[in-house]
Amino acid sequence: MTAAPIAADVLIDNIGQLVSAPGLGALRGSAQANITVTADAALAIRAGVIVAAGPADALAPRVRAQTRIDAEGRAVCPGLIDCHTHLVYAGDRVGEFEQRLQGARYIDILAAGGGILHTMRQTRAASVEALVAQARPRLLALRESGVTTVEVKTGYGLDRASEVAMFEAIAALDALDLCDVIPTALPAHATPPEFRAERERYVEAVIDDILPALAEAHARSRFAARGRALGVDAFCEREAFSVEQSRRVLAAGRRLGMIPTLHTDQFYALGGIEMALALGARSCDHLEAAAPEDRARLGASASIAVVLPACAFNFGNTAFADARGLLAAGAAVAIATDHNPGSSPCLSLPLAMAIACRYQRLTPAEALNAATVNAAAALGLSDRGRLMAGQRADLIMLHASDWRHLVYGFGGNPVARVMRAGRFV
Ligand code: NIG
Ligand code: FE
Repeated sequence: MTAAPIAADVLIDNIGQLVSAPGLGALRGSAQANITVTADAALAIRAGVIVAAGPADALAPRVRAQTRIDAEGRAVCPGLIDCHTHLVYAGDRVGEFEQRLQGARYIDILAAGGGILHTMRQTRAASVEALVAQARPRLLALRESGVTTVEVKTGYGLDRASEVAMFEAIAALDALDLCDVIPTALPAHATPPEFRAERERYVEAVIDDILPALAEAHARSRFAARGRALGVDAFCEREAFSVEQSRRVLAAGRRLGMIPTLHTDQFYALGGIEMALALGARSCDHLEAAAPEDRARLGASASIAVVLPACAFNFGNTAFADARGLLAAGAAVAIATDHNPGSSPCLSLPLAMAIACRYQRLTPAEALNAATVNAAAALGLSDRGRLMAGQRADLIMLHASDWRHLVYGFGGNPVARVMRAGRFV
């Protein structure tokens, strides 16, 4: 008996290695090392969705496809998901970069009114069109090296009009249809100068004024029309917002229908992780300073531990988050670029993964799952991240036939072709 034919738009044949995570949802703890590698594989796509994937000898003869693509023995992996970025901003911080090389500390530059506040001044002065024009090449660079879904935060406006303008720029970036964009509200990123040192009054403005305005902008945006929720984030840190201030911001966002997430434990462990988990945060991000008991809390939770290795690399220090400790505690680790003009001007998620392999001792499989299935879970997405029937056809074809070249080399681009929703870009 012969198996039934499969109708498809596209068949990708002659795949050297087809790589995907087993199972469903996030992979936690020791399971994060699990990966399925199918040699000599094929993959069929209909209407932007994978309809079949598996060994080519069994699959390819059954597929009736309009288009056949020969992968020429290359490795194919899921499209990468960058679950934490600050891609929209104006200008740069190249002067601050040089100051830091001479010994200035990131956190002192912020306390002195530079850093995030420097970018705030440039961002406030830019139009929505200018913000989109500056973000577009960054988005293209991320995509060229494999990213098909990207999260983008506000957080350089720091007043109602400028935060809404940033949100509109994020929506306009999504409308370019280069990548799927997932938006997050981050007005609690720093206290703007008009509030002088009065953080508490600014937190009240965030809760009473800025977050409601962002919720309104989201409700009438293309995101709401596509069922994409708005995240709410805060920078919980000595030079930014306390645990209690961050808690009030996330709780206010949640009341407005936003999904909480938190910048926490980057420099100091203040208790942000416990607070964020109590609010059901989808992820806790940074974690360089996280204590063992907080790693255990993350391991016992459904939240994703997002590590941002390009940030410690950019600071030229060894303060990487303890990703092995997080995995040993049973956490699900995701990796993101944290692209931003200050702490991480990184535009390659494979580079962030390559750093995680070297300095955080992740295996290539753990790093791939961190930038695919676990990153999808950090954004509440279950329709992508794996190469199996029913998932979106977001995939990358590498130059190499062994998929581990994704993290083996660095400084070049291991990705030859990027497919998003069934179309090569
Ligand atoms: O994730 N730490 C806070 N926010 C960003 C940096 C933003 C900036 O420096 O512009 C981060 O590292
Ligand atoms: Fe960040």
